[in-house]
Amino acid sequence: MAMKLPFFKYKEDDETVQYGDGNTPEHIAIIMDGNGRWAQRRGMPRFAGHKEGLSTVVKIVKAAVKCKVKALTLYTFSTENWKRPKSEVDFILRLPKEFLHVYLPDLMANNVRIKTIGDIEKLPLHTREAVQYAMDRTRDNDGLQLNFALNYGSRHELLNAMKAMYTDLNDGKLSWDDVDEQHFSCYLDTADLPDPDLLIRTGGEKRLSNYLLWQLAYTEFWFTDVLWPDFTEKDFFQALEEYRQRKRRFGGL
Ligand code: IPE
Ligand code: IPE
Ligand code: MG
Repeated sequence: MAMKLPFFKYKEDDETVQYGDGNTPEHIAIIMDGNGRWAQRRGMPRFAGHKEGLSTVVKIVKAAVKCKVKALTLYTFSTENWKRPKSEVDFILRLPKEFLHVYLPDLMANNVRIKTIGDIEKLPLHTREAVQYAMDRTRDNDGLQLNFALNYGSRHELLNAMKAMYTDLNDGKLSWDDVDEQHFSCYLDTADLPDPDLLIRTGGEKRLSNYLLWQLAYTEFWFTDVLWPDFTEKDFFQALEEYRQRKRRFGGL
């Protein structure tokens, strides 16, 4: 019997990766978890893990570009993360600026378009300015859409969507007859995106932590114990390969 060749063939000592021609997820969502534990295991402060995680971000973005993934949505800071000590919150919210300062030229060279989901108005000005600058600079790129979920929480997003829809119904801009799942999706932060095909969570936890609750209704989940700063291109390709072998039924047969 002919052996089925893996779709994503990764060679450790070689830059080349062979790709198949179908069944690549169009949209991948990632919960980048485990930064703090990565640092603590090395006797370092949690901050060091967040910083180390930045180089994983750029590696995985480039891997996604290679695989011709259309959109990558990265959970960067949740509405619940404000509960952390102020010093850690401040540090995390300085990282987008630092990341973009170092990697924006690289992202431009890779034709990446940057966007955000979440309530960015409540972020510090320096974070908003850095992100806005990157969004403006990459506006005309038509490669991978890279979404940073910043001050994002799914319940907050859903409530806002319901309020906005209610306002439109009240103002007569929308009629009840037109309210369906597709229309409701237009009120979400992800209005311009297809639902994720694949969700990856690093760091060993098996929960959604208030991430994309509506959008993940039929997404394939892939969990790994690998902590985000240790997550490699090879792990990413393994997730894609396993995705390729799954059978999505959407309730059908
Ligand atoms: C994920 O890593 C990054 C953010 C939540 C901002 P954590 O900081 O949650 O790392 P762990 O889970 O404590 O190891
Ligand atoms: C989820 O990770 C949020 C981000 C990765 C930004 P958390 O570490 O905050 O999630 P919980 O608290 O373990 O659920
Ligand atoms: Mg965590």
